Amino acid sequence: MTRLVLNVGGGRSDIRIGVGAFRLEDHALKKRTLILTDRKVQALHGSLFRGWNTLVLDRGEKMKTLAVVERISRALLRRGGDRGATIVGVGGGVICDLAGFAAAVYMRGIRFGFVPTTLLAQADASLGGKNGVNLDRYKNVIGTFRQPDFVLADPRFLSTLPPAAVREGLAEVVKAAAIRDRALFIELENAAERALAGDLAVLERLVARAAAVKIAVVARDERERGARTLLNFGHTFGHALEKTAGLSHGEAISAGMAAAAGDSLGGIVACAVMGLPVGLGEPFFDSFESVLGHLLFSIPGIKGLEFGAGFRGAALRGRDYNDVILDASGRTRTNHDGGLNGGITNGNDVVFRVAVRPTATLGRPQETVDMITGRPAAVQAGGRHDACFALRMPVILEAAAAFVAADFQLCFHPAFHEGGLP
Ligand SMILES: NC(=O)c1ccc[n+]([C@@H]2O[C@H](COP(=O)([O-])OP(=O)(O)OC[C@H]3O[C@@H](n4cnc5c(N)ncnc54)[C@H](O)[C@@H]3O)[C@@H](O)[C@H]2O)c1
Repeated sequence: MTRLVLNVGGGRSDIRIGVGAFRLEDHALKKRTLILTDRKVQALHGSLFRGWNTLVLDRGEKMKTLAVVERISRALLRRGGDRGATIVGVGGGVICDLAGFAAAVYMRGIRFGFVPTTLLAQADASLGGKNGVNLDRYKNVIGTFRQPDFVLADPRFLSTLPPAAVREGLAEVVKAAAIRDRALFIELENAAERALAGDLAVLERLVARAAAVKIAVVARDERERGARTLLNFGHTFGHALEKTAGLSHGEAISAGMAAAAGDSLGGIVACAVMGLPVGLGEPFFDSFESVLGHLLFSIPGIKGLEFGAGFRGAALRGRDYNDVILDASGRTRTNHDGGLNGGITNGNDVVFRVAVRPTATLGRPQETVDMITGRPAAVQAGGRHDACFALRMPVILEAAAAFVAADFQLCFHPAFHEGGLP
């Protein structure tokens, strides 16, 4: 068990991280406490706080509104909540933000604590006392600085998280390591895989290390007047990407950190062409794959291409790989061949994935050679810097696939062979 204490103007937080940290009765009086949680956490872990006064909310970012804060306040009033009441947020970052903000404004401020249940909330959102709600399209514009009395981060909650949610939280752990903990950064090279596989001991360790970084930064600058802005590393570009590229928070922050460091990222982009007729493509030189591949490899930055199960399929045995035909229409159970047999469309979706290299120009110095002097030199790009052009690739792939599909349909149109199309 790791114990951290944060003592700043906005209050004193007792932070416990480890298996068994969730001992609510040690920190809150049952009859004066309102637990705030969301439906999913209630369904998965509600048995752990059965018998406590609980307000269960819908889940998601959409709940971070003043209207929901009013609901929480009414729930407190109905239960006779006075200045001696306590709110405990049991959930992810959304619940922590709501609980912290509602507690800061209800009766001008009551006690509150957090039981963070996502990796992101344990490693980041539950710590530091910055809690707020959204207004219109603007995130966290209404908020407060006030420290929770206690934070009980028990890794056992993390066992029910889907891998995507672990990945989300890992982005904030990487951020903490990148800004202040070199050893953790190096450790993450291996630990990230084990964390993604759900290793609770690894997750506990990562949470404890990331929390220590955040606490140290907040202790120096609770109100974000200087040092605390470090915690926003990757978030300026990240929030822009989150809004415009449809990435999740963690993905966007990861790309944002690379951009902020003047570095770049590659990506793998998948495309499916649906509704194609059976029979497009020549069996040899002009197979559907080769014509599409020709065009795709003309797009700068594409370094790899696979159809259907692709490289992964190479590890399967034939009996598992083969797309079994189910009826006379040719319908198949699987689509490992990616809609193509012998270079010809078979009626299934044509599915392909491309590997896109990281952008070559970097906003940081790279080694090179001065071609005039023949001596080592450094090159660094300035101005606009596209950190990940894989993000722009979907529309390009769609256009390429549409060209090829349209061209084949023209070539295979009977009229084409009978003296040309009208
Ligand atoms: N206040 C801060 O300092 C701070 C810092 C970072 C992020 N945030 C905020 O945190 C929010 C994002 O946090 P989040 O990713 O935890 O989101 P979240 O609270 O929406 O949780 C994500 C999903 O995970 C589910 N969930 C929670 N615990 C689970 C568990 N143990 N097992 C399975 N599912 C579980 C939730 O029901 C929800 O559907 C954003 O609103 C962001 O602004 C705040």
